[in-house]
Amino acid sequence: MTEKSPGGALRKRELSQEKMSEPLFHSCAPRLFYVRTFGCQMNEYDSLQVRRQLAALGYESVDDMARADVIFLNTCSVRDKAEQKVHSFLGSLRKLKEANPQLKIIAGGCVAQQLGKKLLARFAHLDMVVGTRAVNSIGQLLQQVEKSGGRAAFLHDAGITGTGSGCFEIAPQPGVTAPLTIMQGCNNHCAYCIVPAVRGAERSRRPEEILEEIELLEGSGVKEVLLLGQNVNSYGAGLGEKISFAGLLRRIVSESGLLRIRFTTSHPKDLTEELMLCFAELAPLCKHLHLPVQAGSDRVLSRMNRRYSAGQYLEKVRELRRICPEIALTSDVIVGFPGETEEDFRDTMELIEEVRFDNLFSFRYSDRPNTRATAFEDKVDEKISARRLAELQGRQAEIALGKNLAEAGSIREVLVEGPSKASNGQVSGRTSQNRIVNFEAPLSSTGKIVAVKITHAYLHSMVGEAIVG
Ligand code: SAH
Ligand code: SF4
Ligand code: F3S
Repeated sequence: MTEKSPGGALRKRELSQEKMSEPLFHSCAPRLFYVRTFGCQMNEYDSLQVRRQLAALGYESVDDMARADVIFLNTCSVRDKAEQKVHSFLGSLRKLKEANPQLKIIAGGCVAQQLGKKLLARFAHLDMVVGTRAVNSIGQLLQQVEKSGGRAAFLHDAGITGTGSGCFEIAPQPGVTAPLTIMQGCNNHCAYCIVPAVRGAERSRRPEEILEEIELLEGSGVKEVLLLGQNVNSYGAGLGEKISFAGLLRRIVSESGLLRIRFTTSHPKDLTEELMLCFAELAPLCKHLHLPVQAGSDRVLSRMNRRYSAGQYLEKVRELRRICPEIALTSDVIVGFPGETEEDFRDTMELIEEVRFDNLFSFRYSDRPNTRATAFEDKVDEKISARRLAELQGRQAEIALGKNLAEAGSIREVLVEGPSKASNGQVSGRTSQNRIVNFEAPLSSTGKIVAVKITHAYLHSMVGEAIVG
């Protein structure tokens, strides 16, 4: 952590420049790095820190992996499929290493933390394994390995300043929106989840540090931040000062000029009325809440160790909609959790029918090492869980499309993020409720909020017309 001094952010940048001013290589051709990220938005954030640190060491980012001198792979372990993807990607890098023995291949993130040295043993062409908390020191660790020429696994706790080297003047991908991790780890032990094991216990960053980072982001043109944590609702626990997540939101709104603030994820058991009221009181706070429910059956919820009932979840949803009627709700669901009966699954279907989520991320249960559920013996047959998942996703698609279609004719405020993916001359942005809208407007509207009349709606996006004047 950096000390708080008069001149705050500036002093921090000076410090980081002192630290990082010694370039690693003195030849004329810049060394090139390539970063590939799997997994969640927290990994996206960590990858940004990695990019910043490598850029500060004099490396340049390259889109073509085959040209890179350093490849950093940020990994996810949340489900077996995610982990397998990492193994096959790492395997595919062998050829690049053979072609260029100087290439440094680094695996970071959750699989790196989970497997440590085992990953080095499995992939002889892998040079470094960097765990979820050591990633903040990637610059120094890489220098160490470049000098020693050996292979190493770094799983130590390097603190969570999250700002890494603090070199924020190097904005690798200046954009309108930016992720910002406000806390790491998780103290909940959901029976299926590997995250607490790979991300460690929950730790919050100090509000001053978060505000400082927002100031730096704003300086590089960012208009919207996405505050990240496995359970942002318990933000502040363990900090010297008494501050709740709602308190942090209020500070950010009063001390920054951000147009928009989003956050994820909220555990339903910790969703307080104080936080719900923020949606009504804080204008820049987007009217969208991701509130993972996981299941609609009390028996399953209890075996998952979620510590709320379906009834309590529905009560919170009602309260939230009473406080902020226009709020969009999204969620995560796991089907085929061990012991899930047809009746339990019907309870989940009933819950999604009752809530009518704007969007839902649903997964088949996957055994993860050292989690409690892995030891449960009543595993659900894969064919049955596949059928349940297809039914859930089919119904949810109808609900989501219906909700999007109901937007037609309304006027929504859209924060323009840049050109639309279709490259058809349109721009693309999001409504406060997190719906994607494409419409005709000059690229110079990027970073601005534009009033748009919705004309067409599809499952994943909408089309509209800018309201002029
Ligand atoms: N901290 C967040 C999300 C963490 S992981 C939260 O508590 O909601 C993101 C999602 O992956 C979870 O919400 C859950 O739906 C899913 N997930 C986690 N472990 C899983 C497993 N073993 N099998 C299937 N899905 C899982
Ligand atoms: Fe995993 Fe549960 Fe923590 Fe979310 S709250 S990260 S699902 S243990
Ligand atoms: Fe995956 Fe790790 Fe995120 S396991 S979901 S990258 S916290």
